[in-house]
Amino acid sequence: SKILVLNGPNLNMLGKREPQTYGSQSLADIVALLTQQASTLNVELEHFQSNAEHLLIDKIHSAWHQVDFIIINPAAFTHTSVALRDALLSVEIPFIEVHLSNVHKREAFRHHSYFSDIASGVIVGFGVMGYQMALTAAVNQLQN
Ligand code: DQA
Repeated sequence: SKILVLNGPNLNMLGKREPQTYGSQSLADIVALLTQQASTLNVELEHFQSNAEHLLIDKIHSAWHQVDFIIINPAAFTHTSVALRDALLSVEIPFIEVHLSNVHKREAFRHHSYFSDIASGVIVGFGVMGYQMALTAAVNQLQN
């Protein structure tokens, strides 16, 4: 099976960006952890990060019939992007939404997500571990 991990805008700044909120690990650190976990679980993992909405949309379109499951942290697009939501609906690939921070204890504008009602599941507030939990859950769903 193939799993695509997508990260949205500003997540390339992880480790430097607001470490009290997002932790000290870089995106490269997270991808290394997930790649190792994927090989243990015998699944193929691809990662893509972009600050551009259309590049994330294009990546989702190219996943059509190529990818079995998506793990996505849409970052700020969580709260704004009908286009990214529609892209995920268009390819009909199941996905888990991940947020490093607990968005529900932050500003009100972070409480609404354009993704949660169409996601297989949502993991918020567990930092890097949230991605690892999502990968475990994704493989479990693929096996059932
Ligand atoms: C985030 C939460 C979003 O509200 C924010 O815009 C981000 C990161 C998270 O992982 O906690 O960029 O998705």
